[in-house]
Amino acid sequence: MDLDIKRARRETRHCEEVVHFNNAGASLMPVPVSDRLHEYLREEERFGGYETAEREQEALEHFYDAGATLLHCETSEIAFMENATRAWEMAFYSFKFSPGDRILTSLAEYGSNVVAYNQQAKRYGVEVVFVPNDEYGQLDLRAMENLIDDRVKLISISHIPTGGGLINPAAAVGKIAKAAGIPFLLDACQSLGQLPVHVDEIGCDILCGTGRKYLRGPRATGLLYVRKDLIESLEPPLLDQHAAPLISPTEYRIRPDAKRFENWEQYFAGKAALGVAIDYALSYGLEAIQGRIDHLSGLLRSKLAQMEGVELTDEGVRQCGIVTFTAEQMSPSDIKRALAEAGINVSTSKGSGSLVSFSHRGLDEVVRASLHYYNTEEEIEYFLTTLRGLLSRASKKVR
Ligand SMILES: Cc1ncc(COP(=O)(O)O)c(C=O)c1O
Repeated sequence: MDLDIKRARRETRHCEEVVHFNNAGASLMPVPVSDRLHEYLREEERFGGYETAEREQEALEHFYDAGATLLHCETSEIAFMENATRAWEMAFYSFKFSPGDRILTSLAEYGSNVVAYNQQAKRYGVEVVFVPNDEYGQLDLRAMENLIDDRVKLISISHIPTGGGLINPAAAVGKIAKAAGIPFLLDACQSLGQLPVHVDEIGCDILCGTGRKYLRGPRATGLLYVRKDLIESLEPPLLDQHAAPLISPTEYRIRPDAKRFENWEQYFAGKAALGVAIDYALSYGLEAIQGRIDHLSGLLRSKLAQMEGVELTDEGVRQCGIVTFTAEQMSPSDIKRALAEAGINVSTSKGSGSLVSFSHRGLDEVVRASLHYYNTEEEIEYFLTTLRGLLSRASKKVR
């Protein structure tokens, strides 16, 4: 089904003033989300924070229903978190590892997650194993299968990396994990809001996501999903009296639902607005959103592929709205800066976030143009014309 672009543009207030191809960084919030956030904060200003939370009880609770609808799970399996990293960490650090235990991950893994693996490697002698890629640059499923043995205590991968268009074959990984009875943690930070994510179809036991990227929610919001039958076996690394109420001076009881991973003090305005952002994505439908993103990113990739000096750096059989490239005429940072002067927002990927993948591939930095459904073919045309001009001026200077 076609997505209503006119509605999407009309409900993205400033989309005519800027070409925003940085949706993998933080998307532009649509009107209902931004209005909800501002309205909530105005209520806090007027009535007080605690009083507003009471008045807004229903909206705050709605976040859990919206999250469960998005992921096709139960409300009690959802926690509100301040970002994807903290969501991921609260789950990851709940696992107890012993020397010789193995964690299987992929080369496209997000930098912060790799930091956490290495910290547990230092602390407990855990072995971190990067499953090699196949010839398409996605996680090699056969290699992963061959690595399964009694030592493997966790399979943990990023669905979509921060620095490229790859979509890792998460559902196939889920099958391998399930067959081996190994917990599967999925970092879906770049997937939520970009494509349908069905936790049972993927077969993941834990999943984290963020609000500000493809879900178009506010910054400093995120969510965590933990499968019902795993929750009670995971003791969070940090507990407060929301996660574990005190029941006597010496005893506490950890909540039986996913809220055990939360904090008592939260970004309430963000939580209400993230609920609206999820509803908003669902109102278009994730299949329609993915279809539109596929169309736009396919168009951009095919045109970039024809541009002299430009090399696309996206891997994978299936690709998403994150389009990455390098150009021999100009550095990614210079391209980003020059595009910004022409009213085009892109970002670059460099350093820690993509370090494992990039060092493996001999890449240092790439331009990341990340498209969303509200972007248009005209914006892509303007982007291409501007980039062509920049690169041609740069090559004349070199000559
Ligand atoms: C794959 C992936 N995981 C995790 C994160 C971290 O998300 P957050 O900043 O919400 O913690 C990012 C952010 O770019 C990401 O791309």
